[in-house]
Amino acid sequence: MKNKYRILFVSSEVTPFAKTGGLADVCSSLPKALFEQGHDIRVMMPKYGLISERKYVLREVIRLKKIPVWMGKDEHHASARSAFIPESKVQVYFLEYKPYFGRNDLYVDAATGKDFPDNADRFMLFSRAILETIKLLHWQPQVIHCNDWQTAMIPWLLKHEYADDPFFKGIKTLLSIHNMTYQGSFDKNILTRIGIAAQEPSLIDETIIYDRVNFLKAGLMTADALTTVSPTYAQEIQQDQTFGAGLMDILRSRAKDLYGILNGVDYSVWNPESDPSLPAHYSANDIEQKIENKKHLLARMKLPFAEQTPVIGVVSRLVDQKGFDLITEEIEKILSLKCQMVVLGMGEEKYQRFFEQAAKKYPDQFAVSLTFDEELAHLIEAGSDIFLMPSRFEPCGLNQMYSLRYGTLPIVRKTGGLADTIIDFVGDPERGNGFVFEEYTGNAMLQALQNAVKTFQDIKTWRKIQKRAMKADFSWQFSAENFGKIYQKMI
Ligand code: ADP
Ligand code: GLC
Repeated sequence: MKNKYRILFVSSEVTPFAKTGGLADVCSSLPKALFEQGHDIRVMMPKYGLISERKYVLREVIRLKKIPVWMGKDEHHASARSAFIPESKVQVYFLEYKPYFGRNDLYVDAATGKDFPDNADRFMLFSRAILETIKLLHWQPQVIHCNDWQTAMIPWLLKHEYADDPFFKGIKTLLSIHNMTYQGSFDKNILTRIGIAAQEPSLIDETIIYDRVNFLKAGLMTADALTTVSPTYAQEIQQDQTFGAGLMDILRSRAKDLYGILNGVDYSVWNPESDPSLPAHYSANDIEQKIENKKHLLARMKLPFAEQTPVIGVVSRLVDQKGFDLITEEIEKILSLKCQMVVLGMGEEKYQRFFEQAAKKYPDQFAVSLTFDEELAHLIEAGSDIFLMPSRFEPCGLNQMYSLRYGTLPIVRKTGGLADTIIDFVGDPERGNGFVFEEYTGNAMLQALQNAVKTFQDIKTWRKIQKRAMKADFSWQFSAENFGKIYQKMI
């Protein structure tokens, strides 16, 4: 019998309740997989204004009607309600504190395009409230599994402020790093406001780097174990300052507690055989129906349909990480390959403007939707022939794995989780499931695009690779077992 543990899984986003990127998908599908393996797992996230109470049937929890949270000299009163991740038995607690989380946006104020000025206060309060919640519930997890900077102060709080409270004795912490570039870095003048200024200097040092408060640093230094979302990224962040984003030395000092565990895919959500967002379902043994989705996608994006013209899909946050400078620099050459391109994304203004212009300039070849649209994301996965992810760095990346299952062959740059999941067909025709380039240059990307477009014209070969891609299995089971082993080691 495998050991089963009590785990509190905490995150600032969980699909389908609130999502800005892959973090949300992982923080929904990994807890489900851990539950399947028999662990007593509960999830906690903030109750943002955008989360519909009715749609998800949020219920009151009597013990959690008033959760006292101290931040320095101020006492705040939060509360929490609960629901289940849809189609599962995983319980989620939603931390309610309207002054901080009543807004619709998660981190960035849509009105200004900038981070909320009180993000440090918001996620410090969330972190403290999580600890107060389990105490009120009298439910003592063996492990608190934290994700990214928003919950990275929890290990630090347990090691210091909560160290003398017998309720928390023996609780271990694991911090999963989904992206080293988001660190929760704030001006030092917030220390008093978030209630940690009264600690002795050596403890405060654990939260400071480059003269700023840094939540991620605190977590990296004090969590019992660290994971990141792919084996290659685990290496990259310890070997290269750019990947380590200024925290490489700390990561190196924790090398023996740092594991790279590849994210998985929730095939109950990402499956072309049953996906409710698709007009036509298909599978590895019956790929022919895929083309109906292509027709539908092109009609929706107001592009003309031609069977032989490959459609390149992109679904992404529009940020530098994702390689959009390569795409924008080379757009003319990309489209000269006689393909069409469909982009779904939101993010930096410069890319939004560029893509709007491109759609005007190439009305038959290029279309963009600058929205967050879950359904369209699924349709692009199904309706495209090729999926492009030329990331500068990529901790794991989920879309390339979704693309494999949808028979939409990915073109990726060889970095992080992309390197761990995609094999170049030209370099390895027996195992290849996509197209890979290494150098971060427009030319290297164009070469991979040429290879893909050329192979696409050879329908027999293309079908063979598609079948291979669709049969690949990146389900969570294996990775969830690895988490189980780390929990065991800590406990
Ligand atoms: P990251 O977490 O860095 O954004 P991932 O590849 O891990 O990258 O995950 C991205 C997730 O966000 C995928 O589920 C993708 O479909 C989704 N996504 C990104 N942008 C959008 C958008 N504009 N509309 C809908 N889904 C999006
Ligand atoms: C981050 C990374 C992405 C990863 C996701 C989920 O947002 O950018 O590569 O897949 O987290 O772990």
